[in-house]
Amino acid sequence: MTAPDFPLRTAVLASGGGSNLQAIIDYLDGLGPARAAQVVLIASDRAESGALTKARAQHIEGAVIGAPADGAALVTLLESHRIGLVVLAGYLKFVPHEVTRRWAGRIINIHPSLLPKFGGAGMYGRRVHQAVIAAGETESGATVHHVNEEFDRGEIIARERVRVEQGDSPDSLAARVLAAEHTLYPRTVQELAVKLSNTSHSA
Ligand code: GAR
Repeated sequence: MTAPDFPLRTAVLASGGGSNLQAIIDYLDGLGPARAAQVVLIASDRAESGALTKARAQHIEGAVIGAPADGAALVTLLESHRIGLVVLAGYLKFVPHEVTRRWAGRIINIHPSLLPKFGGAGMYGRRVHQAVIAAGETESGATVHHVNEEFDRGEIIARERVRVEQGDSPDSLAARVLAAEHTLYPRTVQELAVKLSNTSHSA
């Protein structure tokens, strides 16, 4: 087996503004030579997404995923960039099985609730926070998990709890959870990349 790249070549898939993407880039940059992952590809199903604007601004390769359900095309894109770790950051399309199988254990997502609660198809963004408040929950949070063939059902890697305050709106809760995501996700990406690098070296 050939040794993997260090830092691990990482792709971030994002549909929206890309604040988690930015938090990951900034955190890894701040680690300097200790960073175990490096974002070398940003891919989005939306050509006009903030994530792709960020890619251009930071001279990171950007790609539009023209047909999100085309697993073979996505595998080709990721392989052409020798991607070792796939990070979903607000990517709202279903990731085809070809990709989740090929990168099993090396594809992760962040979800803005304490999974397994308030996850699954159709549960994303504001809808999650609306449902949390409607259910009268006193805490919410963010979960990083492996991505498998079912929406939000892969093995949980890390969670961060956030209080639901009296009078919270979906937007105020979303902002507090997002702030927690920005510390949880970059740290978890680094930790997983360290683990993957060590595992591959000893394989
Ligand atoms: C984040 O809150 C993320 O947890 C959520 O979308 C937002 C993306 O924000 N993802 C989901 O709801 C996935 N089911 P960002 O583009 O600013 O990082």
